[in-house]
Amino acid sequence: MFMYLPCEIYKILKNLTCVESLYSLKKVLELELLETVRRELINGYSKKRHPFRYFTLATVNNGKPRQRTVVLRKLLPDFSVLIYTDQRSQKINDISKNPKVSALFYHPKKLLQLRIDATAEIITDSVQLNNYWQNIPENSRKDYITVKAPGSDISHPDHVDYDSETNYFTAIRLIPNTIEYLQLQRPNHLRIRFENNGNAWHSQFLVP
Ligand SMILES: Cc1cc2nc3c(=O)[nH]c(=O)nc-3n(C[C@H](O)[C@H](O)[C@H](O)COP(=O)(O)O)c2cc1C
Repeated sequence: MFMYLPCEIYKILKNLTCVESLYSLKKVLELELLETVRRELINGYSKKRHPFRYFTLATVNNGKPRQRTVVLRKLLPDFSVLIYTDQRSQKINDISKNPKVSALFYHPKKLLQLRIDATAEIITDSVQLNNYWQNIPENSRKDYITVKAPGSDISHPDHVDYDSETNYFTAIRLIPNTIEYLQLQRPNHLRIRFENNGNAWHSQFLVP
């Protein structure tokens, strides 16, 4: 296991006494798992065909859950996840009333599931939004420029009008409160919860 540890963690471990090491081994594993979370989420948007590129985002509206697939656009240093959407979409409406959301990622080859319970923040900073907008390829911009709002009735799939002069693009930052990591493996499955208390991540192994 130690071969794969980041140098800093390995150095810390090397300097510890035996008694401390037992405790530290657990800590090191926890840190290593949190780093795995970070790496997999970064791979999700930076590596082609990584299964975390698409994930399920659940919101709540009047006590009713609603899920949809979205694209993972970026991971920020505090583990916040960035997504893009249309300002007129139902999820914006849901989040405006209740910012508590849940995001589910699944890696079928690794049998790895991440569940992130987060507080969603709709980004309103026009400079930031414009920055994201400029990096969206021209042919993908049409997702945000329909004349009618997403979810409106139409008589035929081809009957969608676009107005390139007006876009409804926005971005949402999902600020994690807890991250739950579950990996099915032999001999023991591995489940751990990371909780953000504002300054640091606290971890707790759980019965899978
Ligand atoms: C593969 C895939 C990727 C999608 N990515 C996004 C996305 O990044 N942002 C988005 O708003 N909708 C995305 N959608 C559409 C949503 O799943 C959903 O249908 C839409 O956002 C409307 O959801 P709402 O009415 O609950 O807001 C995607 C759908 C699929 C199938």
